[in-house]
Amino acid sequence: MKKITTMTLLMISIFAMAQQQTIDQKVNDLLKKMTLEEKIGQLNQYTGDNQATGPITINPNKQNEIKQGLIGSMLNIIGTKYTRQYQELAMQSRLKIPLLFAQDVIHGYKTTFPIPLAEAASWDLAAIELAARVAATEAASSGIHWTFAPMVDIGRDPRWGRVMEGAGEDTYLGSKIAYARVKGFQGNKLGDLNSVMACVKHFAVYGAATGGRDYNSVDMSERMLWETYLPPFKAALDAGAATFMNSFNDLNGIPATGNVHLQRDILKGKWNFQGFVVSDWGSIGEMVAHGYSKDLKAAAYSAITAGSDMDMESNAYRYNLAELVKEGKVSVDVIDDAVKRILRKKFELGLFDDPYRYSDGKRETKELNNPENRKAALDVAKKSIVLLKNENETLPLSKNLKTIAFIGPIVKEYKANMGFWAVELPEVNYNKWVVSQWDGMQNKVGKNTKLLYAKGCEVTGDNKDGFAEAIVTAKQADVVILSIGEKHDMSGEAKSRSDLHLPGVQEDLVKAMIATGKPVVILVNAGRPLVFNYTADNAPAILYTWWLGTEAGNAIADVLFGDYNPSGKLPMTFPREVGQIPIYYNHFSTGRPAPDEDAKGYVSSYIDLKNSPKFPFGYGLSYTKFDYSGLKLSSVKIKSNENIKVSFQLSNVGKVAGEEVVQLYIKDKFGSVVRPILELRDFQKVKLKAGESKTIEFTIDKEKLSFYNDKLEWNAEPGDFEVMIGASSANIKLKSGFELLE
Ligand code: NOJ
Repeated sequence: MKKITTMTLLMISIFAMAQQQTIDQKVNDLLKKMTLEEKIGQLNQYTGDNQATGPITINPNKQNEIKQGLIGSMLNIIGTKYTRQYQELAMQSRLKIPLLFAQDVIHGYKTTFPIPLAEAASWDLAAIELAARVAATEAASSGIHWTFAPMVDIGRDPRWGRVMEGAGEDTYLGSKIAYARVKGFQGNKLGDLNSVMACVKHFAVYGAATGGRDYNSVDMSERMLWETYLPPFKAALDAGAATFMNSFNDLNGIPATGNVHLQRDILKGKWNFQGFVVSDWGSIGEMVAHGYSKDLKAAAYSAITAGSDMDMESNAYRYNLAELVKEGKVSVDVIDDAVKRILRKKFELGLFDDPYRYSDGKRETKELNNPENRKAALDVAKKSIVLLKNENETLPLSKNLKTIAFIGPIVKEYKANMGFWAVELPEVNYNKWVVSQWDGMQNKVGKNTKLLYAKGCEVTGDNKDGFAEAIVTAKQADVVILSIGEKHDMSGEAKSRSDLHLPGVQEDLVKAMIATGKPVVILVNAGRPLVFNYTADNAPAILYTWWLGTEAGNAIADVLFGDYNPSGKLPMTFPREVGQIPIYYNHFSTGRPAPDEDAKGYVSSYIDLKNSPKFPFGYGLSYTKFDYSGLKLSSVKIKSNENIKVSFQLSNVGKVAGEEVVQLYIKDKFGSVVRPILELRDFQKVKLKAGESKTIEFTIDKEKLSFYNDKLEWNAEPGDFEVMIGASSANIKLKSGFELLE
């Protein structure tokens, strides 16, 4: 059996190599026929007129340019009808080179999944991969070849609005999720009709924007770059990502788009990336505003030289590259390399065989928003919810409650559940696509339960006129559920915030609800960690529901009534106050570590706040209880070519079945450079029935102990290590140590 498998694998790779050779031949043949202008055309990407996240190219002549072969790709053209129309224009060009259709399919296409940060809270890699698979299947059926996802930027600063689009603060978790998402989007192979090309973004360190202000500069050591920010990109590449997108920010003074170190040395050099790099929207042109390029022509020069293959919406290549070639500043080889990378993908997608193969209206109707897809969305949505607090077993709610008051500005909203980057749904009739929280609750409660509603207030603003009605409503109920948070567009691109408190008067509404004396369950809907200390300290039960997508209402109702036992764990640290930011669990110790969280004086602490977060990375409760015991290490001394098996018993000692994300952390006690106080190095999501126990096993190998040493080499250093098993980064249940020998 083993022989057959190896043989089969060998044959598959020989076949893939042969196919690549023929594609390379085809690309070379085509390239020979192309004029310089046509080559440059392939490097040019324009938006359609649907939606935009930057100034749109004023170019009424787009359609003619396509006919002349001067555009290689379009974004924001969606639906088989339109992609077909545009492709027909490309087929009128001299060489009939098909267009690539790109779109920001970030968390679903029509069936919308939880925002990526929420999905990360599921720690369920299979579910996350499936979410991307469904999104790809829908998008590909709708004419899309290429999604601008996954975003794999590490997010340690919740002021940055785009943390909603990533997998949170941790490099290990982020890398696993990056891998899963690329696999999900690209499926078995490019060219399958249910696959889209992934585009890993934003290369690089966009998430480290100073002050959390979007598009801002980044000054970062090479060590932090390699250790914290690059690994998810590498993981995405290892998963076979077809394309990368560079980023708006500068890194140590050089804009990423014109950054030779990032794109030529690391990505295309050391990592041998064979796909192509697209600029971010207008980021080539923005090098002028950065003060890096004196004009658009200089920007075009820097970008192409640095390895940015395709120009999204800057018009820099279109109008300057030919001249730069004629002047001998840019060699034709550089242009050819970029063109080849793009053409190769068009061949791999099968577009030269049939440019309309993704524009099949019948398939589109069958795939979009079908029941199977919605089932997958509901599954991930439930798994993404994090139970932050549950005093007195307030949750789950009994199905025999007589009256429930469902209060708050988000209860009856549809779009509020979608979050940022859900642009493919039509603006009209949202209720046809999305299950609101109110709808979900109505689907759930039986005839004997009365459901009352009051809005209370808006998400923003200071109007408290609705409080009185909310109080009267709450007083009539057995339990109050209060749904508050951010509007769908308060986190996302260009949505940095300096104040992370619950917006408007929502926390006052929480106070008013608690003052009624009724049990109050809070739902926080948001695209980032928010600050809500009063609520966290006083409400008996809190679910962090993020933005859950089209099945939000059903998912929330399932969790509220215990039809699903919450299993999410936070992928980002929740600060007590904005002043603690950046705050992340895997920080260094410092020379004066605070001995406890209230320590003051000449230790590393604040005089006005604890060091600890409000809710730590990896934290999340369940309706059941898990007991950790019996930690065993297979050895306490290992050589670098040996492994240690770590095992322990996990028991469900509560009354209901549940899932626990068990987390393995490592601390390297001394190093040639200092190491974090603990680092996530593995995890498992384990399902246990009530009363059930399981032996959980992890393997620690050299890779898990390695880091970038003082010479920036990836290696493990001999010495003492701690191994910790935690229910979160701040709740270590079991601990032991071992030594790595010379
Ligand atoms: C700008 C964003 O930064 C990027 O992530 C996105 O893919 C492009 N706009 C295209 O919409």
